[in-house]
Amino acid sequence: MLILGIETSCDETAAAVVASGRKVLADVVATQFDLHADYGGVVPELAARRHQENILPVIRAALKQANVTLREVQAIAVTQGPGLIGALVVGFAVAKSMAYALKVPLLGVHHLQAHIAAAFLGDAPPDFPFIALVVSGGHTNLYRVESFRQIILLGRSRDDAAGEAFDKVAKLLQLGYPGGVAIEKLSGQGDAQTFALPRPRIHHEPLTFSFSGLKTAVANVLKRNQDIIRTPQGVADLAASFQQAVVDSLVSRALLAVRRHDYPCLVVAGGVAANQRLRQELQAQTAAAGVKLFLPSLKLCTDNAAMVAAMGYHLLQAGETLDLRADVFARG
Ligand code: KG4
Ligand code: ZN
Repeated sequence: MLILGIETSCDETAAAVVASGRKVLADVVATQFDLHADYGGVVPELAARRHQENILPVIRAALKQANVTLREVQAIAVTQGPGLIGALVVGFAVAKSMAYALKVPLLGVHHLQAHIAAAFLGDAPPDFPFIALVVSGGHTNLYRVESFRQIILLGRSRDDAAGEAFDKVAKLLQLGYPGGVAIEKLSGQGDAQTFALPRPRIHHEPLTFSFSGLKTAVANVLKRNQDIIRTPQGVADLAASFQQAVVDSLVSRALLAVRRHDYPCLVVAGGVAANQRLRQELQAQTAAAGVKLFLPSLKLCTDNAAMVAAMGYHLLQAGETLDLRADVFARG
C-alpha cells in the first residue's frame, strides 16, 4: 500500500511516500526559515504563498526519490489541521485534486496524531497502549494512546508551548529564529546550574504544563543583569539553565503519566523531541524506571510528511476516508 503524504500546516512544505505505514520510500521537506527569519516568527500569508510555490516541485521530488509514478499511488494523506488556515488550504486543495483525478481515497490527518504515528515508521514500532508526549512549536500535549482511533488528552500547556518558549527565549537572547536548535547548540557551552529558574507547577493539575513564567524569569534575569547579553559565556549559561528547566518540566510529567497509568511505553515526538538534552534525560529516566522509550529520528521529529502518510495508512485501515467536501481546521 503506497501512500503519498502532504504536509503544509506551518512553515514546512513536505511530501513523502510511505509503504504500508512503515517504510519511508521518500521524505522531502522544503523549509522556509529564510523567509520568516527577519520577522522572528512565521508570517501566515508569506507561508501560504511559499507553500503555493513549493508544493508541486516538492511532490514531484518525493515521487522521484521513491521511484514511484503517480499511477502507483494508492491513497493521498494530507494534514487537515491544526495549523495556519492559509497554509493548510494549499496542501489540502492539492491533495483533494490529486485524490479526485487519480480516483484514490483521501485521508485527513490530525497533525499532532501524525507526530505520534512517526514512532511507527521503522521496524520496531511501539505496542498499544502507551503514553505519548507531543512537544512542538504550537503544542505540549500528553496523551494516553489506546489505539490509533483512541487518543485521549491527559494534559497540555495552559499557556506557551515548549517550542514556543524555546523560540521566545532565543529571541530574548538575540539568537534568531527558529530558536530551539540555536539554544541547544549554545547550551552545549554553558553550565545549566548557573541560574536557578522556576519549574512551574499548577496546583491540583500535575499533568498540566506552563512555560510563560519561565520565559518571564529569563527576561527578569536579563533585566537585572544587563551584562549577561554582552558576554558569550553568560548567554550560554542562561540558555543551558533555561533548556534544563524545560527538559525537567517535560520529563517529570511524562514519567508521572506513565506511572499513573502503569503503561509500559512512552512515545515522545514533535520538533522539541529533536533536542539532545531532552533525549538524554528521557533515555536515562525511562531506563531507570523500566519504561520502554520510543523516540523518532531527528528528521521525523520536526515537521515532515512521512508521519502524515503513516497516520493516513492507519486511518485507511479503519475505513476513515474523507469526503471531497471536507475542510481544514485551525484548532483541535
Ligand atoms: O513539530 P514542529 O517541527 O512544528 C510544529 O508543529 O510546531 O516543531 C517546531 C518547534 C519550534 O518551536 C522549534 O524551535 C522546536 O520545535 N525545535 C527544537 C529543536 N528543534 C526544533 N526545540 C529544542 N531543541 C531542538 N533541537
Ligand atoms: Zn508539528
